[in-house]
Amino acid sequence: MEKMTEKHFSIWQNLPWFKVQRHGFADAVRWWLPAIVVIQLGVTLISAAVPALLVRLLGARTGLPTLLVAMIGIGLGLGCLQFGQVVVDAFMQQKSVSVRLEMFTKDGADYLHIPFTAAADAQVRAKRAESMTYGYGGDTSGVGVFYGALVHTVQNAFLILVDALILGGASWWISAAIVATTVLAFYPQQSFQRFRRAKQKTMEDQWNPRSYVQHSSFQEENGKDIRLYHMADWYQQKYEHFVDLDTVANRSIERRRFWVRSLSALLTLVRNGVGYGLLVFLAVNQHISLSQFTFYFTLLTTVGTTGEAVLTQYGLLRGANADINTGRRFLDWADDVIKAMPQGKTTPNFGTAPLTVVFDHVTFTYPDGAAPVLNDISFTLHGGERVALVGLNGAGKTTITMLMMGLLTPDKGTITINGVDIQTISPAALRHYFAPVFQESTVFAGTVGYNVAMTHDYDPAKVKAAIAEADLTDAIAALPHGIKTELTTYLHDDGVTLSGGQTQKLMIARALYRDAPILLLDEPTAALDALAESALYQHYQKMATGKTSLFISHRLASTRFSDRILFIQHGQIAASGSHDELLAKSPEYAELYHTQSQYYDEDQSSEEAAQDA
Ligand SMILES: Nc1ncnc2c1ncn2[C@@H]1O[C@H](COP(=O)(O)OP(=O)(O)O)[C@@H](O)[C@H]1O
Ligand SMILES: [Mg+2]
Repeated sequence: MEKMTEKHFSIWQNLPWFKVQRHGFADAVRWWLPAIVVIQLGVTLISAAVPALLVRLLGARTGLPTLLVAMIGIGLGLGCLQFGQVVVDAFMQQKSVSVRLEMFTKDGADYLHIPFTAAADAQVRAKRAESMTYGYGGDTSGVGVFYGALVHTVQNAFLILVDALILGGASWWISAAIVATTVLAFYPQQSFQRFRRAKQKTMEDQWNPRSYVQHSSFQEENGKDIRLYHMADWYQQKYEHFVDLDTVANRSIERRRFWVRSLSALLTLVRNGVGYGLLVFLAVNQHISLSQFTFYFTLLTTVGTTGEAVLTQYGLLRGANADINTGRRFLDWADDVIKAMPQGKTTPNFGTAPLTVVFDHVTFTYPDGAAPVLNDISFTLHGGERVALVGLNGAGKTTITMLMMGLLTPDKGTITINGVDIQTISPAALRHYFAPVFQESTVFAGTVGYNVAMTHDYDPAKVKAAIAEADLTDAIAALPHGIKTELTTYLHDDGVTLSGGQTQKLMIARALYRDAPILLLDEPTAALDALAESALYQHYQKMATGKTSLFISHRLASTRFSDRILFIQHGQIAASGSHDELLAKSPEYAELYHTQSQYYDEDQSSEEAAQDA
């Protein structure tokens, strides 16, 4: 799988990317931009003209009624323009939020569609979280800032040019001073933004450990260990360490900001000195009238704010652009990865007879693993056969089930169902052939019924039958609302938490409800007590009838209920056959069995007792 890397796109390169992502938004900007520029220009010029007009009217000794009419007219005009500005700004802000939320949704959808291994990869998860936070997670970075900053940069840059041109009417020296001071202030500002960004990057590099510390300290299931092993101090230390890093970085940013601000104040002083000085000189020498003087003077006072705004908004734009590059890192990568996924199209009709699964010289290595977990492995699950897959922890048993369901893709070799390569089968169709009980139980926030059927639109009778078969009827009947009881407290305060054993049985009920032709049970007895384990073995006979099934366990006792045992070791099938055959054939299997059986005596007797009962 390709690595997630950050490419450096310029503002002009990110603009068309936006256009592709959000067609309507980019088009809309074409209309707002002129509107915003015209409105802003109108507001500035009229505001500057008002005092000048007053001076002229007063100088001409105009009567009060005319003055009043003029002022009311100007007031209304300005009011309308300002209202227009508010409307356009609100519209742009609202559009910007909706674009951001769409990216946010795309991020979620992409994450759910990338291959299972990628989604489980800690690096991918951390980078995705980072992409979201900077790119589209809030209105103060990335997509949330980009368009506003772009529009305001253009608007203020245009305004300052118009200001310089108009003031050129008084003296071109003033225009030169405006342009020169703005350009001179530009470089320190941009270098400051680069510095700030670099400092922030050093903080971002701490993202992985930081998010781990944050998440793990709040995870419910960690609460016990944290208290038992006094880990609170460690967490506290880590938090303080991160706070210290932030403080150091922020302090150096603020120091830089102080110098840049001071420089900019100095430039303002120069500009105002030249500008106001010249205006006073021109007025005193009667080169300009009093009302002209007032107009130019007022206009010049707005130049400072506009100049500041250009630089700030451009800085924001650059920052937002860099944030978007971080955001694109995951979105672009996910697009490529999803495109490269094997997308089988066929939906074969296998009829109702049990399915045969064949692994043919399959080799598989995890993306971040050095050596293959499965090395040239071949075996067959015949239609209707009950096969036990045994082996030590980490032998690759779970990996085999994932490959079979198409959640992982082999490096080499093929996996077929009734002779059809599973890579050619559409993923949705492929997954329908399997009723798995995963090694880790997954209870979702929802009712018992939902958790069994994995759909809200379930058949209550069928759910109850599955629950009965999984030996959960009494436990569920004891819940306040039976199968309508909400599980977990994530969505419902009065939600119920099941015990480990009950949860495992719930997972078995889920597989039973699904009633698919291939049954995959991955260590389904790990959380069960001896009685429940024995009951499950009994049940398994019935569950597996008419199906092809794979029962995974590291407990060899489970094997007696299977037609055949596959013993996996060092990434290969070390031996295959009945229990007695394996005892004779494989010294490793025999050793494992004898080691285990020493401790099983007690279990066995309780199991026998259960069978007698
Ligand atoms: N997502 C993963 N990324 C990298 N290595 C993995 C991943 N999942 C499992 N492994 C490694 O693959 C090997 C086989 O794992 P697994 O199939 O879960 O074994 P088993 O189910 O037999 O205990 C182990 O060494 C494990 O560390
Ligand atoms: Mg496993």
